Amino acid sequence: MPNDAFGHSQPASRSTAAPEAAVATNGFATRAIRSGQDPCFATGSTIVPVYQTATFTQDEIGVTKGFDYSRSGNPTRRALESQLASLENARFASAFGSGMAAANGTCSLLRAGDHIVAVADLYGGTHRLFSEVFPRYGIETTYVDMCDVEATRAAVRPNTKLFWVETPTNPLLRIIDIAAIAALKKPGQIVAADNTFATPFWQSPLELGADVVMHSTTKYLSGHSDVVGGIVITNDPDLHAQIAFHQNAVGAIPGPWDSYLTLRGAKTLALRMREHERNARAVAQFLAGHDDVAEVYYPGLASHPQHELAKRQMRGFGGVVSFRPRGGAERARAFAKATGIFNLATSLGGVESLICSPTVMTHASVSPERKRELGITEDLLRLSVGIEDEADLLADLGRAFEISRAAGLVLAAL
Ligand SMILES: Cc1ncc(COP(=O)(O)O)c(C=O)c1O
Repeated sequence: MPNDAFGHSQPASRSTAAPEAAVATNGFATRAIRSGQDPCFATGSTIVPVYQTATFTQDEIGVTKGFDYSRSGNPTRRALESQLASLENARFASAFGSGMAAANGTCSLLRAGDHIVAVADLYGGTHRLFSEVFPRYGIETTYVDMCDVEATRAAVRPNTKLFWVETPTNPLLRIIDIAAIAALKKPGQIVAADNTFATPFWQSPLELGADVVMHSTTKYLSGHSDVVGGIVITNDPDLHAQIAFHQNAVGAIPGPWDSYLTLRGAKTLALRMREHERNARAVAQFLAGHDDVAEVYYPGLASHPQHELAKRQMRGFGGVVSFRPRGGAERARAFAKATGIFNLATSLGGVESLICSPTVMTHASVSPERKRELGITEDLLRLSVGIEDEADLLADLGRAFEISRAAGLVLAAL
């Protein structure tokens, strides 16, 4: 593969192929730090620069150094695409300006008249895209409990083109058997997996039979809650060509600075994910042993109904824990107000711990009836467990139980 004047590997065409040697030979942490990140040939810059430019000067008409316009391609974005493709052990990636733009980019593989079979308890924004935007373009979705493979098979129609898997699910952390769903696929059908919660550090959907993986890079991949972005990754050159065409044609791209922040964040993914999980296990165990907790959802707990599947399919269980404190919606509301280290904020996957009420915050766009059916009710709280000190996190939760219990007693006495 030739290098451009700046020392970055340049595929002959405008494709965003990741450097294949790095994919094949190096371990995860090495790929995160090295893939797509050769030193700059011209200046020796060890770190991929922020190519904050809209356009690229040509030597003569039609003779470029691999880039002509930053919507079509930008070296900082290219480095990010190579890095993230290699983390999924894949050849191709297309970066988008948000996770939702990446979900939409994945669905650019569909045409009017196509049908999606989607996991029932998926992220609220994806539900909104499928339910409120795609029907306008003649694309319908059937939501199904994908833990039930037979029910998933029964939802397939002659015009089904796409299976949309999200696992672990948001916010109830149910586990979908990716290989079992991929086994339902007929020629011409595609399985796409939203791997945002698990990350490529813990789960490799392409190796389990998915055709496309997407992420909200806003979450663990960038890891510091300071940038919004998305990525679509595949090994299939034809699918990649269609998604890359859409990326350029529609233009929902991340800018160079956002690409840089995501690239920098993803370098430490391995380190961060180990810490997120260590803390999340401690939090899940603490909650499971607490008298004021009605239910805990974490696939790493032996009591989780799909713990065995999670162990088989994932290399670790991630950093999100959901739970229901005893005392219903009022207690949950008081609890979310009482934490000090867990910020009350939507999103997840940053180094800082967050708490949210999925029914009001992340899943606000899902209808109340559907949320009730799925168990996304006002007594449910979701924690994104950060990488602060474990003892501080447990103390914060302990304090919030006490404060919210006291608040309940005061209310009861009124
Ligand atoms: C699982 C999942 N997928 C997709 C998205 C959408 O990503 P973004 O907010 O970056 O558009 C989110 C956002 O919370 C998410 O949790």
